[in-house]
Amino acid sequence: MNKIELKFSAIIENEPFVRTAISAFILPLNPTLDELSEVKTIISEAVSNAIIHGYNYDSSKDVYLKAKITENLLEVTIQDYGVGIENIEQALKSSFTTRPDQEHAGMGFTIMKTFSDKFDVRSQKDIGTRVTITKIFKKHYQEVQ
Ligand SMILES: Nc1ncnc2c1ncn2[C@@H]1O[C@H](COP(=O)(O)OP(=O)(O)O)[C@@H](O)[C@H]1O
Ligand SMILES: [Mg+2]
Repeated sequence: MNKIELKFSAIIENEPFVRTAISAFILPLNPTLDELSEVKTIISEAVSNAIIHGYNYDSSKDVYLKAKITENLLEVTIQDYGVGIENIEQALKSSFTTRPDQEHAGMGFTIMKTFSDKFDVRSQKDIGTRVTITKIFKKHYQEVQ
């Protein structure tokens, strides 16, 4: 088992850093390019949701990310202590967004769900939101020279 924890300011410029950090963390799993890009996309969507929706770009607030590898399984939780989601069922629907004005397509949760093997959202209004994603990596065997 291997794990990391990151705490970062709710600044949108931190998103590429976090995405790259997680990419590096999963390299020992020898991910395919598809798996790598799926993980990057999941992280990118969840982190941007925490910053934009959870904290409304309030840079004084912090986002918490935990990632854990157990054999060929990655579990990531992204947590914010922001506004929370009143109606999770509605938020999870494809094309639902509370920011239609700002080029949000409402596809973030759908993408996270599609690219992960297990996906869970816990949220409470005015308390915050926690997204947990599990991804299983194919086992790659090194060719014998
Ligand atoms: N961390 C969060 N905190 C508060 N609300 C959130 C959070 N993540 C998502 N939401 C709510 O769920 C909706 C759907 O999210 P998503 O599928 O990523 O689409 P989009 O980000 O394009 O709006 C958002 O518009 C927002 O209302
Ligand atoms: Mg989103």
